[in-house]
Amino acid sequence: MSRITFALAKGRLAKKTLEILDKIDIRPVDLTDESRKLVFNSADDNYSFFLAKPSDVPTYVDYGVADIGIVGYDTILEEDRDLYECLDLKIGKCRMCVASYPEKKDLILGGEQIRVATKYPNIAKKYFESKNKKCEIIKLNGSVELGAVINLADCIVDIVESGKTLVENGLEVISDVCDLSARVIVNKVSIKTKYEEISKILKEMEENL
Ligand code: PRP
Repeated sequence: MSRITFALAKGRLAKKTLEILDKIDIRPVDLTDESRKLVFNSADDNYSFFLAKPSDVPTYVDYGVADIGIVGYDTILEEDRDLYECLDLKIGKCRMCVASYPEKKDLILGGEQIRVATKYPNIAKKYFESKNKKCEIIKLNGSVELGAVINLADCIVDIVESGKTLVENGLEVISDVCDLSARVIVNKVSIKTKYEEISKILKEMEENL
């Protein structure tokens, strides 16, 4: 069998992703929280794995250095690469939302141009374009809510999971952009050259959700 390489998103999804793979007997040797090693193999050498920054996972899969990637739908939408999106793992469920102070709701839904802070400029741009709403997008790299709180922007486009960050900062959801969860993506050449191995993995994953 050809070896299958997985690119897995570091962070929130990593533990649950490894649990799903473990259920179908695909497991890296020596991968621990403390390890600084970057690439791992399975005991039988049939699989290799690396953990990457989520936004880099689609890049690795697109270039074919990973056959399969597991990453949030937010990242897949934002990176917009030519990949097969094969399976919704139904983990890491959350929403992409437009959020702001309640008193800004009319401004955000009305005709005037607004400023939007986000870690997801492509998603935000497409969303507001679809609403024919003019906006200036300001890219932030984290703690996006701060963009609204300190008035850098009129609103944010960001992930809402529990909603705690919004509530604690007096912000609220103004509109929903889309639902999110972790997805399996596959390289377009790998799906042909390693069809049997990849189909088996996808089928087993789906049966074990
Ligand atoms: C995400 C997101 C929100 C927060 C939402 O940030 O960007 O800030 O989680 O979660 P909640 O609805 O459960 O409060 P994350 O913690 O991933 O880090 P970041 O702020 O550095 O982007």
